Amino acid sequence: MSSLKHPLAQKQIDITDNQGDEHVVTLTVIQADITTLPLDAIVNAANSSLLGGGGVDGAIHRAAGKELVEYCRTLDGCPTGDAKISPGFKLPAQYVIHTVGPVWHGGSQGEPELLASCYRNSIQLTVDNDITSIAFPAISTGVYGYPIEQATEIAIGSVIDSVKQAAQSGSAIEEVVFCCFSAGDAAIYQKKLETIKER
Ligand code: APR
Repeated sequence: MSSLKHPLAQKQIDITDNQGDEHVVTLTVIQADITTLPLDAIVNAANSSLLGGGGVDGAIHRAAGKELVEYCRTLDGCPTGDAKISPGFKLPAQYVIHTVGPVWHGGSQGEPELLASCYRNSIQLTVDNDITSIAFPAISTGVYGYPIEQATEIAIGSVIDSVKQAAQSGSAIEEVVFCCFSAGDAAIYQKKLETIKER
């Protein structure tokens, strides 16, 4: 994927797995349509019904085909902050991890913790499914109104914490891609990623 070949920013972090072996996880920022990425998994910013919607949810369901919504009917919905996995069907990605971000109500109704748990629970699902590469959209920053600067801090911080934690339970993750749809969002992710200490 050309955008994967020309990342806007990239950082490598060291993690130690449950055998005590050191691994490197690459964090990458790109500007792209997440439905085009040929990775093991892409993350969908869904709603609690898991039956599709607008934004990235609509794009993923359109690209995956109708089998996706048929499969998601069997998942019985998803609470905010949680994540569930499905096949990718017609998508180039093997899996879709559906997570439900919080709606922004000003920040004092547990939104930061719920947003962090979207990233944590999505990364946790890479453990049982042998996923080595995953792309996230900017969860909750569209229809759900989460301010992009604050959401970006949480996205990058919780991914770093989660990949370290998941490595302890055998995650084989090697690359996490922050897939931004707009140039503005990509610039914010790029700036934030550049502040992360190099490995
Ligand atoms: N690829 C990557 N990112 C995308 C794409 C795409 N094809 N389409 C939209 N985005 C970006 C948006 O620009 C935004 O930065 O995804 C981010 C999340 O925006 P939304 O899709 O609106 O998701 P969210 O804010 O989490 O709201 C979820 O919207 O579509 C409904 O069913 C969904 O009810 C749920 C709600």
